[in-house]
Amino acid sequence: MNHPSDAVRRVLDLAVELKAAPQWPAALAGRSVALIFEQPSTRTRVSFEVGIARLGGHPVVLAGRDMQLGRGESIEDTARVLSRFVDAIVIRTVDHQKVAALARHADVPVINALTHDHHPCQGLADLMTIRERFGDPAGLRAAYVGDGNNCCHSLMVAGAHMGMEVVAGCPEGYLPDPEVVARADGIARANGGAVRVVTDPGDAVAGAHAVYTDVWVSMGDEEEEAERLRVFAPYRVDEALMDRAGPEAIALHPLPAHDGLEITRAVYHGPRSAVWDEAENRLHVQAALLMHVLG
Ligand code: CP
Ligand code: NVA
Repeated sequence: MNHPSDAVRRVLDLAVELKAAPQWPAALAGRSVALIFEQPSTRTRVSFEVGIARLGGHPVVLAGRDMQLGRGESIEDTARVLSRFVDAIVIRTVDHQKVAALARHADVPVINALTHDHHPCQGLADLMTIRERFGDPAGLRAAYVGDGNNCCHSLMVAGAHMGMEVVAGCPEGYLPDPEVVARADGIARANGGAVRVVTDPGDAVAGAHAVYTDVWVSMGDEEEEAERLRVFAPYRVDEALMDRAGPEAIALHPLPAHDGLEITRAVYHGPRSAVWDEAENRLHVQAALLMHVLG
């Protein structure tokens, strides 16, 4: 039971149990978790902070700019020092290499709370939401439409672990990282699924159980805004695109959403939307993840 796909499944099982439980166990009693935010956040920050407190632990929220890290202290030294104080470190930053370096030098578990390349906590919440609506995700199809970056990558990896077929529909120049696609496809195939990339949004959503999109201008991409709004215009998730998906298809979005850009309000506030459950599920999957890594 040490296979990574088993671990993903166990975390999702535990998240479902926590969501149904009237009271949570004091699994983090006496434990502290540092939450470092170098980028803005609403959902991630609140769900981690509330989840840690509800498990009896102590969240230590740190804005990157208020830390010596923001004045040039190295990641290595920060990792070594924080490891003497806290039991786990959660970090949101643009540069994925920074998280990797923190994890290399820390003596405690490090959780990625979003980089430009990956958003694994979101991917877990996405899979939990799909599972809530349809049961075991194995064999189901998820379509991602838009920018092939962090949320796309994490949906691919999480979906692959659960044996899903994940199809990304992204414009040329904004395709997901081929290395991530190949790795996710390998994981998916071992679990009976597949991961592939197309450039037509209609092809991507055909037969999909879940249609997922994300912002066109991610944190760190602000200078490219004008060009991105032009390139992504044909990739909007509106009711017409939802109609091309499977008959029971749900709409997913990590939020914050931009009405009329990557998604229309009619979709994400409409009957096919699962975005509010998806946001809530961040609380449950992250609490489950902390229980999993802190044993
Ligand atoms: N989806 C998500 O990560 O939201 P926040 O940026 O508000 O944390
Ligand atoms: N792709 C978005 C996700 C926000 C939750 C970003 O990186 O800004």
